[in-house]
Amino acid sequence: HAAQRPLWSNRLGFVLAAAGSAVGLGNVWKFPYIAGVNGGGAFVLVYLLCIALVGVPIMMAELMIGRHTRKDAIGAFAALEPGRRWWHGAGWISVAAAFIISSYYSVVAGWTLDYVWRSLHDGFGALAPSVIESQFGTLLENGLRQGLWHLLFMFLCLAVVIGGVQRGIERWSRILMPALLALLMLLFVNGLRSDGLEEALRFLFAPDFGRLSADAWLEALGHSFFTLSLGMAAMITYGSYLKPDENLFGVSLRVAGLDTLIALMAGIAIFPIVFAAGLEAASGPGLIFQTLPVVFSQIEGGALLAPLFFVLLAFAALTSNISLLEAQIAYLIDERGWSRRRASVCVAGAAFTVGIPTALSGNLLKNWHLIGERTFFDSADLLASSYLLPLAGLLIALYVGWFWRGEAEKAELIQGGCGGLYPLWHGLIRYVAPLAVTVILVNKAIQAGLWQVLRRLLGLA
Ligand code: PHE
Ligand code: NA
Repeated sequence: HAAQRPLWSNRLGFVLAAAGSAVGLGNVWKFPYIAGVNGGGAFVLVYLLCIALVGVPIMMAELMIGRHTRKDAIGAFAALEPGRRWWHGAGWISVAAAFIISSYYSVVAGWTLDYVWRSLHDGFGALAPSVIESQFGTLLENGLRQGLWHLLFMFLCLAVVIGGVQRGIERWSRILMPALLALLMLLFVNGLRSDGLEEALRFLFAPDFGRLSADAWLEALGHSFFTLSLGMAAMITYGSYLKPDENLFGVSLRVAGLDTLIALMAGIAIFPIVFAAGLEAASGPGLIFQTLPVVFSQIEGGALLAPLFFVLLAFAALTSNISLLEAQIAYLIDERGWSRRRASVCVAGAAFTVGIPTALSGNLLKNWHLIGERTFFDSADLLASSYLLPLAGLLIALYVGWFWRGEAEKAELIQGGCGGLYPLWHGLIRYVAPLAVTVILVNKAIQAGLWQVLRRLLGLA
């Protein structure tokens, strides 16, 4: 079997595919927004620290697990620890997270397609700001419309993954990632020329540590996980297609570097024009889908910039979602012996089906609460990105840092060079990463009220 297993054709192919996974809605939408809300420059520094000290070490660990076992995330843990089934849970949690996230990520990606369509078809220029802002709410209340875009987006993802590792994922990453960079470059240069540039740079980069709360640290840590696609089996799976002599330090730094660069460039593309228009920068989920279209309706060249921006977002989302699908497909191929065609169709079909209640959670299923007062959408997001991801990350860090047989592990990582960095990485994955992720999880548990439950159980309350 090992002989027929696919591999990336070269390092660049892998880096583009892995960066395609990492660069997504998290970079273009979420990063600029949370940076603004959490104190701007100081938060950006903390975020960079989290990427370097926690994100990159865990990415190396995931790539290492994948490359060493040459298997999907579940098969990898089964191969590493055949007798200790407890560890297989780390693989199952990651693939479950990939499944849940791929279902709703596609719905959100569908919104970007809706905005590509809108900006080309109606244009934003002829509409009043209040009309533009109301369009987002109208879309959220239109389950059928969201469902159709979700279907189209999932179909595009299926068309890519069905082509396989080299001829599907790698080929499309080689096309879409440079295209995304070129589009971002246009919007970035446009931001540099804007009157709001100075205010935007101050907003994003001048550190004001007085505004940095404890929550900001947690948010930075959590986001460093999501933005690098960690804890979702994606990097284990993509690592499993790496050639054995690839330098894991080098490729991890390239992928994390690209992800960070694109997040920062997105901030400089978005905020100057938002400030120049005198609009609110910290407007949350509406920043991309409400504030920005208003900006595009008012500025010169907006009729061109708007579709470019939403195409960029759609590309970013596409290469991310295919990595989530591939993580599940690899399991069905490696462990269940399915054909790629069958696995791709079933995974995309299942993710589409589970995404339907997400698409409907703004109207038909508005009152269908799963966890607390949350809609189906919010419950899925909470479960996957707040609990499953950090949990998988913790297990992976603990496994690689403490339980994996030392020698094989070491040989694996220093293959291809940078052996001198091994002690640094080992210290980070052994102590810093598990500790940091535990803090996130404990904090989530406290927020969710688990603490009260525990106190009551222990008779302390
Ligand atoms: N990293 C992606 C982003 O920043 C999200 C993602 C997570 C994609 C996990 C694939 C796997 O948006
Ligand atoms: Na990202």
